[in-house]
Amino acid sequence: MNKETIQTLKKCSQEQMIEYLPYLTEEEQNEIEKQIQEVDFEQLKQLYKLAKQEQHVEEKTIERISYVDKAKLENSQRAKLEEIGKNIIHNGKYAVITMAGGQGTRLGHSGPKGTYCLDTIKGPKYLFEIVVDTLKRASQDYQITLPWYIMTSKENHQDTIRFLEEKEYFGYDKNKVKFFMQGELPLLNTNGQIILDKDKKIKKAANGNGGIYEAIESNGILEELKKQDIEWIFINSMDNVLCNFVDPLLIGLTIAQNHKIASKSVAKAEPKERAGVFCKMNGKPKVIEYTELPDEMAEERDENGELVYGELHIMLNLFHRSILEDLADVKLPYHVAFKKSGYLNEKGQYIEPEEPNVYKFEAFIFDAFTRYDDMTILRVKREEEFAPVKNRTGVDSPETATALYNARYQ
Ligand code: UTP
Repeated sequence: MNKETIQTLKKCSQEQMIEYLPYLTEEEQNEIEKQIQEVDFEQLKQLYKLAKQEQHVEEKTIERISYVDKAKLENSQRAKLEEIGKNIIHNGKYAVITMAGGQGTRLGHSGPKGTYCLDTIKGPKYLFEIVVDTLKRASQDYQITLPWYIMTSKENHQDTIRFLEEKEYFGYDKNKVKFFMQGELPLLNTNGQIILDKDKKIKKAANGNGGIYEAIESNGILEELKKQDIEWIFINSMDNVLCNFVDPLLIGLTIAQNHKIASKSVAKAEPKERAGVFCKMNGKPKVIEYTELPDEMAEERDENGELVYGELHIMLNLFHRSILEDLADVKLPYHVAFKKSGYLNEKGQYIEPEEPNVYKFEAFIFDAFTRYDDMTILRVKREEEFAPVKNRTGVDSPETATALYNARYQ
């Protein structure tokens, strides 16, 4: 390792890296040196500060956000809005981006989450296959093969491509599919130090689903969307098996409301449901975490008995391309999670900790909403559009998602 790199490590309080050197081959040392030169240590210093600081509550006003309930739309009104959306899709102005860069830690499946298979009434269905089923339905309905972009992470990029290649894209036109990788950030131990992984490289993790805005820019996706004259882009997750992401009603409603961002929501099942809900914070649309919403607000009901803060964010988001262009170089705030992560100790031994030991930093896609004055919210029925696979067992598990999927397609 050259003197300059050692100086940098000392200056940034990362001297622990020097202790690894005797356990590394020259080649490994060179690789790490290259990686060290790419790390933004100033950013890491700020992130560590964020992890350590007490959460302070800012002065804020929280109000209800308005939404349209799909079930309450009149047929003629709905048909009119759908017509607007259908034209957009049919005329090639619509594309889909599926976020698949997550680690799926709660599910605990080895391999990308989209390769998880459910046992359904239609037979075995991989999560990726369920996304393709919706794309194929759209091809039939609109006589167009929608461009499909898949965001992966460095960790699962190759495995994701290999899987879809092997499965021949479940019959979708592979020329319409493109993969791109999101960014990542080093993990930090409780002393704010970077750590090494089994492969003797700096241990990093994907920078959260909010990394999508930067990733579509840096990977040339935004440019491609522009060249194809795509106007509306739906960004979904791949783990909701009822995800209806080609919905002309949502597009039509957003255009009719003169908005450029839209989300679908479902009504909160009960006040304590552990999920983020929409609100207006300081006059701007925002998804507020259940941990941030005071109890009395979570329980508050209107004159019709509905929860005032009852619109759940379910990762079904629609954007006009101009918004994605606008967000390309915006720095979203990072959220800190304290996680368990294996690492090499200074003697070169790999340690699997029993307790959380590192900070992971993630940006959230919905944190971008507050930059705009308003957005469209379309409330849909949970049993029709929301069946996520998050946990190994219990709530939002393969079991509950399969039951909802079967009920829908029976
Ligand atoms: P979640 O936040 O539920 O994370 O992702 P996850 O990775 O699926 O599961 P856990 O939290 O580790 O258990 C919602 C969607 O955002 C994607 C996921 O792949 C999923 O489709 N995502 C998440 C990314 O694309 N990148 C990320 O860095 C995080």
